[in-house]
Amino acid sequence: NDRTTARIGIVTISDRASRGEYEDRGGPAIKEYMGEVLSSPWEPEAVVIADERGLIEETLREFADDKGCCLIVTTGGTGPAQRDVTPEATEAVSEKMMPGFGELMRKVSLEKVPTAILSRQTAGIRGRSLIVNLPGQPKAIRECLDAVFPAIPYCVELIG
Ligand code: MTE
Repeated sequence: NDRTTARIGIVTISDRASRGEYEDRGGPAIKEYMGEVLSSPWEPEAVVIADERGLIEETLREFADDKGCCLIVTTGGTGPAQRDVTPEATEAVSEKMMPGFGELMRKVSLEKVPTAILSRQTAGIRGRSLIVNLPGQPKAIRECLDAVFPAIPYCVELIG
């Protein structure tokens, strides 16, 4: 594992995108954002999976423990619907929760859309990986990352 190239996990969590019913726009939006803000070498590890709690937990563990991702960004499954279980899966695999990420993202998102209150997005730390949930809406990705990205490299450095 080349330690100079940061591996970044990008996990799209959507029943419909995983079945190919529509194109995943969240994963590519995260990739594009990282390309704009990161100055040092990095490589994406991207996957599209269904809203299944066990599968989400397995993917987060694999990306953190086996693939050595220093950052794992998820998109989707943060809402109140029956199938939305991304925050539960994130909490289940995390050793430490980082509630400030969700608090700040909801705060800035509420200035754009009143429905931001419906997102239960959170963040946590597993080993040397920071896991951050983003909502599924592609436009929410930039809105949320603009708010929290400044803290991410420092957090990754502190846990690395
Ligand atoms: N946050 C931002 N910044 N922009 C948005 O458009 N959409 C909201 C919310 N957060 C939104 C947002 C909506 S409509 C929902 S239902 C919740 O995120 C949860 O979305 P998810 O279940 O796709 O993760």
